[in-house]
Amino acid sequence: MLDIYHDYPLLLLNTFGIQAQAKTCVFIESPQQLQESITVFAGQHKLILGGGSNVVLTQSIESVLLVNRIKGISITAEDDEWIWLTCGGGEIWHDTVMYTINNGWGGLENLSLIPGTVGAAPIQNIGAYGAELKDSFVELTAVNLASGETIVFTHSDCKFGYRESIFKHEAKGKFFIQSVTFKLAKKPIIKTQYGDIQQTLLDWGISNPGVADVSKAVIHIRQSKLPNPAEIGNCGSFFKNPVISQEHFNFLLLSYPSIKSYDAGPGKVKVPAGWLIETAGWKGFREGDYGVHEKQALVLVNYGSATGSNIIALAQRIQADVLHKFQIPLEMEVNAW
Ligand code: FAD
Ligand code: EPU
Repeated sequence: MLDIYHDYPLLLLNTFGIQAQAKTCVFIESPQQLQESITVFAGQHKLILGGGSNVVLTQSIESVLLVNRIKGISITAEDDEWIWLTCGGGEIWHDTVMYTINNGWGGLENLSLIPGTVGAAPIQNIGAYGAELKDSFVELTAVNLASGETIVFTHSDCKFGYRESIFKHEAKGKFFIQSVTFKLAKKPIIKTQYGDIQQTLLDWGISNPGVADVSKAVIHIRQSKLPNPAEIGNCGSFFKNPVISQEHFNFLLLSYPSIKSYDAGPGKVKVPAGWLIETAGWKGFREGDYGVHEKQALVLVNYGSATGSNIIALAQRIQADVLHKFQIPLEMEVNAW
């Protein structure tokens, strides 16, 4: 049995805190309800919403909105060293991470406190603090929104990259991710090299950290840098960190000796978009109820009543300015609807 809502308000279903409505909205709590919704709404265009932490709503939604609330976590295999965990796509990502940490399993701890759902995590291969979803991912089960067919996507099928997967390209909008299987270590390999993790642990007097310590450090660092969507509307990083040629980077170094960089393979360099946006003068910018966060220039924010169009227009001004000043195009990370 499906509960179908009409003109459903989305304000509380997106972390930007943008007012919009869905003409038809269905909360999907089981694979059976998913199949039923595909039958009931056959031939109609569908959009899928998880936690709404990576979408900008620029208009009301005419498509049928399927909100993923499929829960359930189970161990599907186990040996002396590994646990295979299959999680419903509607599980909250951070709760799932905490469940693995409470069991002492390693793999997801550096991805603590990322908002959203498990089912959305493969879409952009979420990443933070030296880890990416793909490092612990085994496979996912997805349902074709047109035919209702259930398909398993293996690791290689997903074509993961930096904030990339097949679901942002040839498979975009075609599949509902129903569950995701992870392989987690019973003897975790701790990753503390990235950013301030090591220093934070040292400050706390922890020299031999476990997964729970790494998670606490990541949470602590994230809370000091990123705005809490419950207080200021945002979607995390609005743009991807761009990859440019070594030659282009060397040229920029002449004018900007403080520019930061990360290795991105032979002849390529990744530069922090936050640095580019800050250096272009946008950090802390505010106009009406929309702006650029004062502590993290990569995060666009809604202080109250900004619309999705306000946010997109601001993003375009930033893109034009960064292109003009550094000859670097910034690609949006968030999904504009
Ligand atoms: P939604 O915003 O609901 O959806 C995002 C996209 O995925 C949409 O196109 C939607 O249609 C599609 N989608 C959602 N669920 C499914 C499904 N089950 N099947 C098929 N398609 C689906 N991201 C990072 O990678 N690293 C970070 O460190 C990080 N930090 C963040 C910090 C903050 C404060 C915020 C607000 C966001 C941050 N993000 C980060 C971005 C965001 O949390 C991730 O992209 C997350 O995976 C989005 O999950 P969601 O359930 O909210 O997806
Ligand atoms: N920086 C600035 N000014 C700013 C912001 C950043 O100069 O206003 C510089 C910092 O000094 C630092 C560098 O940029 O040297 C990187 O900053 P930070 O460590 O904050 O990370 P980021 O590159 O801005 C990325 C991810 C985040 C992820 C963090 C931690 C992308 C697009 N963003 O941010 O992911 O949490 O690293 O791993 O890759 C997200 O995707 O939504 C997200 C928040």
